[in-house]
Amino acid sequence: MKFRNLATSLALSATLLSAQAFAELTIGFSQIGAESAWRSAETESIKSEAEKRGYTLKFSDAQQKQENQIKAIRSFIAQGVDGIILAPVVETGWDRVLKEAKAADIPVVLVDRGIKVKDNDLYLSKIASDFVFEGKLAGAWLAQETNGYANIVELQGGPGAAPAIDRKAGFGQMVEQFPGMEITASQTGEWTRTKGKEVMEAFLKAQGEEIDAVYAHNDDMALGAIQAIKEFGLMPGKDILVVSIDGVKAAFQAMVDGELNATVDCNPLLGPLAFDALEMAFNGKDVDKWIVQKDKINVQQDAAEMIDSRMF
Ligand code: AHR
Repeated sequence: MKFRNLATSLALSATLLSAQAFAELTIGFSQIGAESAWRSAETESIKSEAEKRGYTLKFSDAQQKQENQIKAIRSFIAQGVDGIILAPVVETGWDRVLKEAKAADIPVVLVDRGIKVKDNDLYLSKIASDFVFEGKLAGAWLAQETNGYANIVELQGGPGAAPAIDRKAGFGQMVEQFPGMEITASQTGEWTRTKGKEVMEAFLKAQGEEIDAVYAHNDDMALGAIQAIKEFGLMPGKDILVVSIDGVKAAFQAMVDGELNATVDCNPLLGPLAFDALEMAFNGKDVDKWIVQKDKINVQQDAAEMIDSRMF
């Protein structure tokens, strides 16, 4: 049922829609894929929140392809959904399809990643971390830990993705302040353990014991790198420091095991906030353009105490 029809038929222009009215609505969710533990936690958060609030959720997994996301959004529009939740795989190329959603009066909430569009009114709100800040946190931690001297290899996220661009920028801005710190190699590990391991193997083959530290844009790639370091005969967390981003439970376990040194939090549990934003729009209320998730860095020394309270 279209939201605007529902609102009209219930003559609710001056009254807030009730939870029961929301339960009749349908939301489309275009997810990137299932490349990391973090992303699976995000999917689960949105699915369970939809169920809790009684929405019908149409879910589409894009298998890492923007063209699949664009197709999914067009299909949601054709089916007359009341709102769309989009986790955009890359930053650019969304203008046309979001214009189509706007023309159909369907609010679009971005979760976890930002986009670059000519007109920011094409989406309702972005619920995401500040990825530049996350990169800075990782860089500052490493600078402190190495007294500003380190040969660093970097495992980047997927090409063109907002967190890959911004985490690289934030980390780079921090380490360039230390002449003794150098990023000696940087390549995409496509957010996955398998690719992270493969790229780290190549870095080790080329640079071996010259590498002092790994900076991975997510935990899954760091966990793959840890495996590569062990197979190379070095000790991750000691011979080569490892810092990453996400804060998933497996990363906490790697810190407890002494193999990962630090991980920056990034909140994937965005379901409640995404539905809150949509409901505010359904009620005609203003929604913040960027609902920022606050992050901090977690270090090995605190991991054992924290691991049981990790939610994902
Ligand atoms: O957009 C958030 C990033 O995407 C997470 O850090 C990563 O694990 C995921 O795949």
